[in-house]
Amino acid sequence: MTEWTAEDVPRLDGKTVVVTGANSGLGYEGTRAFAARGATVVMACRSVERAEEAASELRADAGGAVDGELDVRECDLASLDSVAAFAEGLRDDYDAVDVLCNNAGVMAIPRSETEDGFETQFGVNHLGHFALTGRLFDLLDAADGIDGDTRVVTQSSGAHEQGEMDFDDLNWERSYGKWQAYGRSKLSNLLFAYELQRRLDAASDEGDDPGIRSVACHPGYTDTNLQMRTAAESGNPLMKVGMRAANLVLGQDAAIGVEPMLYAATADVDGGAYVEPGGLMNMRGHPTVGRSNDASYDREDARKLWEYSTEATGVEFPV
Ligand SMILES: NC(=O)c1ccc[n+]([C@@H]2O[C@H](COP(=O)([O-])OP(=O)(O)OC[C@H]3O[C@@H](n4cnc5c(N)ncnc54)[C@H](OP(=O)(O)O)[C@@H]3O)[C@@H](O)[C@H]2O)c1
Repeated sequence: MTEWTAEDVPRLDGKTVVVTGANSGLGYEGTRAFAARGATVVMACRSVERAEEAASELRADAGGAVDGELDVRECDLASLDSVAAFAEGLRDDYDAVDVLCNNAGVMAIPRSETEDGFETQFGVNHLGHFALTGRLFDLLDAADGIDGDTRVVTQSSGAHEQGEMDFDDLNWERSYGKWQAYGRSKLSNLLFAYELQRRLDAASDEGDDPGIRSVACHPGYTDTNLQMRTAAESGNPLMKVGMRAANLVLGQDAAIGVEPMLYAATADVDGGAYVEPGGLMNMRGHPTVGRSNDASYDREDARKLWEYSTEATGVEFPV
């Protein structure tokens, strides 16, 4: 484990960082850390009201004004139209995006569907971020980034190890297990992050280096709203008590849980890396570069997922 902390995030004056799910948990702490270093943070959230409240809280915590700017914008990852409108709006107002943190997510909720008819965990956690990254590609390409490379950071989970791809039923229409669906969505995050890096490498080999690095991470077990939302949606009051207790005992503070994302975004890390907490069972502690499970490096599954995602979202990447 390194001793790296949020204090090691370099100055980010003049940089633009987009964080999905910036109003809560890891996205909120990430926004705080990036803004404290002078970045303009675009808070890409599904509820502008919750995001404005979060931005006010961050400003109040920082004594009235954070160092960088906070730009609250609507981006509902459960709607491909919302993602497209968000990207369009950003293109109107920004010339470049230096860091994109694909962070937002939902965990183990009862089966439901996004506006476009995708199972929600797969639709929000993976497809929404796939579409967002593709739609922002030109702005990412245009940026100087950090140490010369723009970063696309994708937040996965240790739960990817429980994920299994089933290309005959990615949408969970034949059967549904809420934890299995979460695991698959988090495995999909990794298949996407590594395949993006392979495509960037291939473009670079052909002499067309977009100067973008794709880095994956996970926060270990962190006390956020994620578990409470799972409990609330389960309809089981005991689960709420259980999750609260587990969070208090086992969950680390979001200010530490966010470190892998901050490290992936700003430290000296290779494209295709997997950044995770380096402490007990990779569930807590300061960040380190590790390795995700073998399934996440399966090139054939990554290719198939990419093809499916392109067709499902209608978003084509130039790499
Ligand atoms: N906490 C952990 O222990 C843990 C462990 C492994 C991985 N993770 C991952 O970390 C990421 C962040 O989670 P967190 O722990 O910070 O949980 P959190 O506090 O619940 O934050 C999740 C964020 O995602 C947003 N979100 C949910 N659905 C969305 C949608 N359709 N469009 C846009 N944003 C949406 C939420 O918005 P609302 O506030 O409006 O609901 C919220 O801002 C997730 O990808 C999660 O899988 C967390």
